[in-house]
Amino acid sequence: VLAPASLAAPTQPRPAPATTALTYASAFPADFVFGVAAASAQIEGAAFEDGKGESVWDRFARIPGKVYQGHTPDVACDHYHRFDEDFALMASLGIKQYRLSIAWPRIYPNGDGALNQAGLDFYHRVFASMKKHGIEPWVTLFHWDLPQSLEDRGGWTSRVTVDAFATYSDTVVKAFAKDVKHWITLNEILCFTLLGYGTGTKAPGRKESAKVVNQTYHHALLCHGHGVRAVRKFGGKGAVVGLTDNCAVSVPVTEKPADIAAAKAWFIDRNAQILGAIQAGKYTANFLARVGADAPDVRPGDFALISLPTDFLGLNIYSGTFVRAAKTDTGYEALTNPTNYPRADSPWLRLVPQSMYWATRFCHEVYGHAAIYITENGCGYDDEPVVNGEVVDLHRRDYVRAYLREAHRAISDGVPLNGYFLWSFIDNYEWEDGYQRRFGIVHCDFATQVRTPKLSARYYSDVIKERKIL
Ligand code: NOJ
Repeated sequence: VLAPASLAAPTQPRPAPATTALTYASAFPADFVFGVAAASAQIEGAAFEDGKGESVWDRFARIPGKVYQGHTPDVACDHYHRFDEDFALMASLGIKQYRLSIAWPRIYPNGDGALNQAGLDFYHRVFASMKKHGIEPWVTLFHWDLPQSLEDRGGWTSRVTVDAFATYSDTVVKAFAKDVKHWITLNEILCFTLLGYGTGTKAPGRKESAKVVNQTYHHALLCHGHGVRAVRKFGGKGAVVGLTDNCAVSVPVTEKPADIAAAKAWFIDRNAQILGAIQAGKYTANFLARVGADAPDVRPGDFALISLPTDFLGLNIYSGTFVRAAKTDTGYEALTNPTNYPRADSPWLRLVPQSMYWATRFCHEVYGHAAIYITENGCGYDDEPVVNGEVVDLHRRDYVRAYLREAHRAISDGVPLNGYFLWSFIDNYEWEDGYQRRFGIVHCDFATQVRTPKLSARYYSDVIKERKIL
């Protein structure tokens, strides 16, 4: 049998290719910010030291069955005592931007009332050490560690928390205005409201009605406004401020115009309560129609505070929901990922790199933000052992690379995406998943506190140095 002509062996040897250059133009803009992120309750430990008050997570972790194997944030990465060593390691990897949070119960052990000077002193030492190591701070005022005393007075269901936050943010911004130029008001409103007071899977673990949960969102929005107000008033020259949101992310099933329009419509609906309300300066008619009698109580003046202009939007991007055009009332259909869709060990973390592109693009198109930063992106896996002095986390290297490519694509398409913070610098206390789930690019042995940079840390370090996807 004769082979078809196209499959026949060539009679002449093929010429060698002239070049082996990479075809993908992957350089990031010169001023693009590459950093890493973490949060007070997840890394500091020293949960009851130097006058720190109890937080809702200190309490929640002690309720049997709430946190994986009853793990507590008591010690975590002992960063409270090892921050200088941690910043030295960060600097040795070429990381020059670090997003951290201030523990409210270190500053006001009861949430309001007496100030704890030792708490302020700790962060003065932290900022001095960062400066020494050439690392720029990006500071989140609230990353979930609400003082338990405020929870005892209603927590996020009460305006008491809003008033206390106003004082707390004034104090913190005033104290650190010289050291900090980048401020983030709150981290992921949805998580500490809906999951803390609705499903009860996060601290304080309450299961309240939809009406109460909507009120917690509203109080969080007011705190965001107070954070912006505090930075404007006390932040000094050059201070910038924004919210970090974990917006619901839609990804069109195909990039045909009809699917893109459907994904965008879903995005607008799903983000009405936070980003939509801030942008509109009110709860939109669509949102109010949807929640009906469960709408939050709003007082005069609330929205003047909530919608104070910000300088940037922070987005925590991990995953996304696929959406397609459909003959439904809304014109869209959101798809549930099949069980065998690829995911990290965190069950909610389906691997959807395109979420990076579509989240930043839709935020820019819908809300018109002039500057967007990815304040978190990363992945959680269990069992990442140190073998012969290294952790070969190729899965994390792949994840970071794939998401960075989509970030780069967004920039190429004109989205004002100015920076990226990898979550997280070091394995840490992953809330209700305890220490089981590791998100770090640096491995932490929680028994010995030995730090070991993983392969992903070396990879990211090279990316930062060369400012391109490698
Ligand atoms: C978002 C949260 O801000 C952070 O605290 C958490 O550890 C990561 N996601 C991973 O779940």
